[in-house]
Amino acid sequence: MSETKGFTSSFGAIAAAVGSAVGLGNIWRFPYICGQYGGGAFLLVYLCFVFFIGMALMITEFVMGRHTRRTPIFAYETLAPSPKQRWWRYAGLLGLITSFLILALYLVISGWTTNYFAESAVGRLAGLDSNAITEHFNSFSNSALRPIVFIAVFLAITAAVIIGGVQKGIERVSKILMPVLVVLLMALCVRSATLPGAAKGFEYLFKPDFTQLTGQGVLAALGQALFSLSVGMGVMIVYGSYLPKDDNLLKTSIWITVCDTLIAILAGIAIFPAVFACGQDPAGGPGLVFMTLPAVFNSMNPAEGLPIGTIFETIFFLLLVIAALTSAISLLEALVAWGNEYNTKRSSRTRNTIILCGLMLVLSAVLSLSNGVWNGFTIGGKTLFGFVDQLNSIYLPPLCSLCAVIFLGWVVKKEIIKDELSNGGTLKTGYLGVFMFLIRFVAPAALLIVLITGILNG
Ligand code: TRP
Repeated sequence: MSETKGFTSSFGAIAAAVGSAVGLGNIWRFPYICGQYGGGAFLLVYLCFVFFIGMALMITEFVMGRHTRRTPIFAYETLAPSPKQRWWRYAGLLGLITSFLILALYLVISGWTTNYFAESAVGRLAGLDSNAITEHFNSFSNSALRPIVFIAVFLAITAAVIIGGVQKGIERVSKILMPVLVVLLMALCVRSATLPGAAKGFEYLFKPDFTQLTGQGVLAALGQALFSLSVGMGVMIVYGSYLPKDDNLLKTSIWITVCDTLIAILAGIAIFPAVFACGQDPAGGPGLVFMTLPAVFNSMNPAEGLPIGTIFETIFFLLLVIAALTSAISLLEALVAWGNEYNTKRSSRTRNTIILCGLMLVLSAVLSLSNGVWNGFTIGGKTLFGFVDQLNSIYLPPLCSLCAVIFLGWVVKKEIIKDELSNGGTLKTGYLGVFMFLIRFVAPAALLIVLITGILNG
């Protein structure tokens, strides 16, 4: 672990972790499922899950990472060294595999986002009507070469930051990009919220409608809470290992959780009032960002003069690229750091990054092609992309999370946890009892329910 000495300041650490948490999940997925499952009612359930289960998981991963200063597999190994406990390290391995798969999916969508940023910046989307935009998206995402080229561009930028290192790459980039992201998002919110007819969008997003809140909605809320906080695959174990020893883990986790949640809500405010004001369908699902929004922005363009809609569109896609970039960075970092630890003698940061990026490019190219040219190949009626997506959203993260909470709650000595949370006895840990209760009982029960229903519903 030669060049990875960790983050230098609490702000840097929080910026990097918020960067990991804030991603496509906040800006694209959250607003859409929030509206779908009953607006304010869903939001309430989501907030409970985020603060009681998601945050407990984040603290769990931070404790494991900071105590051991290692990546997931080795963190489990260090905390459970006896031969009888050997199999715990497979929980770390499962996390590693999950990060690998989720990065491949993430890269495909990030490639689309990068393409849309480039296209909106040069005005290629301006002037297309709703149908033409839908057609444009379909022909783009089904084509062979173009999506892969943009995946490669995005991956190259991610790799450059990782090669730069933890401090000079990740920390520095996050400290600049996260504030930029917030400013861009605010600008979009103001524009959207002041459009005539915006009130309907607020209603859609915030008015509690408990009749819409189904069991499925509750499960979706928990899944989204885990996904949005980037927990359940060990990435936060890696970032935890970079946290300064005097960092207050509870405070840092609260900051990350609050920022992540606020940004998700702001994204909803940036999107839905505008969608309603322009008379578009709010339930656009996966196509909301790539098909509905370009139409919304186009309708803001005046007949002549400054194409204000296109400018906001470019800002929006830049925002999405930034959000995706800092998340992809953390996923790739988790893999690179593992490689460094696995083979300390021969590997270097640069070499690992290049090898992993090569593998990632191949895997995400295959996933991208499975949307179009290769869509004849299916597993259980799903394309390869759909299959990996399902694996990643329903099964693997809850399973990894379940392992982590059971491990910390029942296997690891309580003194170790207390020592980490109190920074060797210097901080008060009055909440320790609540935390232990959450990771011993509440989180495992909730995660089991999610897993079992996921398996039953196939
Ligand atoms: N939290 C990210 C988002 O909201 C997605 C994500 C899930 C992630 N797990 C992760 C990002 C692990 C980085 C690392 O889009």
